[in-house]
Amino acid sequence: MTVLQEIDLGSADSFAAFPVEVTLEHTPYWLVRTSEGEYRLLLAICPHAGGEIRPMNDVLFCPLHFWTFNAENGTCLNDPDERLMQRKVVVKEGHLIAVGDHY
Ligand code: FES
Repeated sequence: MTVLQEIDLGSADSFAAFPVEVTLEHTPYWLVRTSEGEYRLLLAICPHAGGEIRPMNDVLFCPLHFWTFNAENGTCLNDPDERLMQRKVVVKEGHLIAVGDHY
């Protein structure tokens, strides 16, 4: 049986605004909150050529070749076949918990 890895990101109340930069296992992510109130981690590495993803206005943005990504689900706004890898986040007893690896 496979046990999914769980990492406590801290109390949900401790995050005042999103996206929040989070590093897990030496890997950078943006922690986002969707309009439905769900949380997820979006990998902060561009799927195009590895640029450093950062927030810009309402989207996530790669400064290398200017691809932009939906800041809730990581879909690429330039190429619908591309998206940011992501990691599931659940809320347990008021804490945000990253579950499993990114996919
Ligand atoms: S590396 Fe991000 S758009 Fe090219």
